[in-house]
Amino acid sequence: MTSSTDSRQILEARAASLVFPRHFVFGAATAAYQTEGAPDADGKGESIWDRFCRRPDAIVDGSSGDIACDSYYRWKDDIAVLGALGLGAYRFSFAWTRLLPTGRGAPNTKGIAFYDRLIDDLLEAGIEPYATLYHWDLPQTLQDAGGWYNRDTADALAEYAALAARSFGDRVKKWTTLNEPWTFCWSGHATGEDAPGLSDGAKGGIVASHHALLGHGKAVPAIRAEVANASVGIVLDLNVAEPASDDQRDAAAAQRFDGAQNRWYLDAVFKGAYPQDMLELYGGLLPSIHAEDNALIAAPIDYLGVNIYRRSVIAAGDELAPISYRRVQPEGSYSAVGYEIWPRSMYDVLGYVNDHYAPKEIYISENGVATRPEQIGADGHVWDELRAAYYVDHLEQVTKAAADGVPVRGYFAWTLMDNFEWAYGYTTPFGITHVDFQTQRRTVKYSGKVYAMIAARRA
Ligand code: NOJ
Repeated sequence: MTSSTDSRQILEARAASLVFPRHFVFGAATAAYQTEGAPDADGKGESIWDRFCRRPDAIVDGSSGDIACDSYYRWKDDIAVLGALGLGAYRFSFAWTRLLPTGRGAPNTKGIAFYDRLIDDLLEAGIEPYATLYHWDLPQTLQDAGGWYNRDTADALAEYAALAARSFGDRVKKWTTLNEPWTFCWSGHATGEDAPGLSDGAKGGIVASHHALLGHGKAVPAIRAEVANASVGIVLDLNVAEPASDDQRDAAAAQRFDGAQNRWYLDAVFKGAYPQDMLELYGGLLPSIHAEDNALIAAPIDYLGVNIYRRSVIAAGDELAPISYRRVQPEGSYSAVGYEIWPRSMYDVLGYVNDHYAPKEIYISENGVATRPEQIGADGHVWDELRAAYYVDHLEQVTKAAADGVPVRGYFAWTLMDNFEWAYGYTTPFGITHVDFQTQRRTVKYSGKVYAMIAARRA
């Protein structure tokens, strides 16, 4: 027996020892722009990601989501993979510009028909759809009117939510308003790494985030008005911020970072007010916050989705003043996108959220790891053992949090298949399924098999 077979056997034995409750949801996630391709098929309008990818140097390999996994035409292949993995849930997003090509106004019936087919085929395969409304692909027309800097975009999101809910709510019961507002607001408007590519510093992130949260708050009742028994939530990317040292300045920076990434969103949604320390810190950078906004944003939700990838070790520094921090990279192992592999962050984030905000239900809406592109071996397999171990290690932490009483109801692997990883293009795939982008052939990786094994072993 070779040593790699040894290590696989040990890993598989650990996977086999993980026990999840019978009704625990195991799924996989994707997003429209990262997988669908077909950017102008059947009347689809242009989104900010369609536009951003045309910018020279925006994407490391000069690529785009123009074809991606071709899922607009090959959704049946994706469902076949979900079926082969034995997963009971699929988290995907609607492309706003397929349903409303210019963001508002007349719906595009062909766009609606595409998601009708996807949803019907999922249900037929016994897979529950978990739909996200906003996974970063704002209609370009709305961007031209100011995008998330414009308060009206919140109303546009609510109108879009109402249309989607009316169109699909007879079959889709699990709804997410926004995916990762911290990331799309700050990377899109403060640093410019993501679409729309604005480098406006902290003010950009802060203004965009208030309007995005307002959009969330208005979308929640819009969905409920159309969907009987809807379960509505938001997906936040959370990281416990650990101070890099005992130095008081590092502790204060970690506190500010925690305020910017975590508490800003959590306090607004669960407590109906932004954290006082952050309001003071942001001061003149804040947009106008109307009297009714706090109550709107705090519309009761049914679950919180958390995307967990890493921890943040934070020191005082000069990034994004006035947050003014520096990310410290402790010695350890890192993924291809530079995230430290630190399974304990799963347990820590779940505990943090439960202790401070007590959501009724929590889903891990994303968790996964990037590698360099992989090849299918001569034996027909993709032996991504690092990724398989990542899933076992992180799922083990989920069982620990659940044993402490955290109400975790489900887990979605990011991602079902290799796809367009935003500014990294196709250079850092996260898939549990390999995609040959020449032939579009999908091949489940070793990590997918190990994940499927865990999903199959519910109590
Ligand atoms: C979070 C985002 O929601 C998803 O779109 C992205 O691909 C993963 N993180 C990995 O970076």
